Amino acid sequence: MIGISKITGYFPQRYVKMKDLAVARCEDPQKYLIGLGQEKMAVVGGNEDGVSLGLNAVKRLIKDLDDREKSQIKMVIWATESSTDESKAASLNLIDTLQLPNNGRYFEIKEACYGGTAALTLAFAQVALHPETKIIVVTSDIARYGLKTKGEVTQGAGSIAMMVEDSSNIVLSPFGQSAYYAKNIADFYRPQGQNAAIVQGQLSNQSYLNFFYQVFQDFFKKQDLVPEEIKLINFHLPYTKIGLKGLEKVKDQVSLSTYEEWVKLFNQGKALNAEIGNIYTGSLYLNLISNMLQGNFSSGDLLGMYSYGSGAQGEFYVLKVQQLWKMPEIEDLFINRKAISVEEYENLYRETTSNLNQTFNSEGIRHGDFYLKFIKNGERFYEQA
Ligand code: HMG
Repeated sequence: MIGISKITGYFPQRYVKMKDLAVARCEDPQKYLIGLGQEKMAVVGGNEDGVSLGLNAVKRLIKDLDDREKSQIKMVIWATESSTDESKAASLNLIDTLQLPNNGRYFEIKEACYGGTAALTLAFAQVALHPETKIIVVTSDIARYGLKTKGEVTQGAGSIAMMVEDSSNIVLSPFGQSAYYAKNIADFYRPQGQNAAIVQGQLSNQSYLNFFYQVFQDFFKKQDLVPEEIKLINFHLPYTKIGLKGLEKVKDQVSLSTYEEWVKLFNQGKALNAEIGNIYTGSLYLNLISNMLQGNFSSGDLLGMYSYGSGAQGEFYVLKVQQLWKMPEIEDLFINRKAISVEEYENLYRETTSNLNQTFNSEGIRHGDFYLKFIKNGERFYEQA
């Protein structure tokens, strides 16, 4: 069977509490905590970038593989909108740092937050053509809008990695046909050379919700399935309140009991997204992990997946839970996370750099985790702390 045999992730160890950020920005903390549904925001230092976050997620993903299994990895698709290079794919860094095979195809893929879903869909199709191979999908991003902007509260950082293969050990498999919808709009974009996104916040909210309504309806028109058969919906969550608004949008399409059950499970399952913030390409898959860790689904359940990438692309598809034999194993990342002050966060924000030559220390990085050690003539070098 084709599907995801393992999913895991990695998140920076530093975070800012939303209530501290609200006070510093002269906002009512309830706006951030209730109005947007965010508790904390993961923060990177200058010694972390989209590549280092992804290296750490993949390290966790492949930790139990033997040499023969590693040699079956024939493709690594890296979905990101936080690329550190206009040309070279981030996934190539895995060859040296984690000894992935040279005999493989490594590349990067982009369409805002939709990139992770694009990569996963491609991986499913590729494994169908080559059932003897394993494919790694990496999503890795640092959400940046700028200090004191309206989008600031919806920042975050992290990486999710997934193993796709044809095996008897599949945890989640694609089910039925996806529904998708695209439109050329400027709700959110990041021109070359800018390190923060330009966003029309309310337009992006409207577009996200309208696309959801459209693809949700299209999905059920395409197959012999009714919404009531879906256990819960995982959402791309730039902030968690938007998932509740999504459910509200399709309330008239489902029975009241299903709507209420979806809301209940959503409120339980949003925990990690509220703790970490927006991680762009990986956000939907973080919500999936979060629901998994809450025990919100079990074998045989069908899970709705709503993916949205500004610009804009939406997709609704379904994953079937096969067996929960492999859990994400990320709990240790939450044991010694460090709360930092708004002032420290602002200093780290300014530190994050695109200089062509710079050296970093391993401050704030856990022992054994990868960090950006130095940049020489624009080339980036990573090392384990
Ligand atoms: P804003 O204008 O500061 O917030 O920006 P608001 O005025 O819309 O208020 C937010 C909510 O807080 C409202 O709730 C208020 O009522 C409530 P709603 O009415 O909408 O239900 N509120 C309060 N609640 C309790 N107590 C209070 C209080 N005060 C107000 N005292 C916005 C919010 C999200 C627009 C902004 O942060 C932003 O621009 N963020 C970035 C863009 C974004 O996240 N868009 C989401 C959809 S687009 C997407 O998901 C794609 C993306 O991930 C990028 C990609 O694809 O790569 C972003």
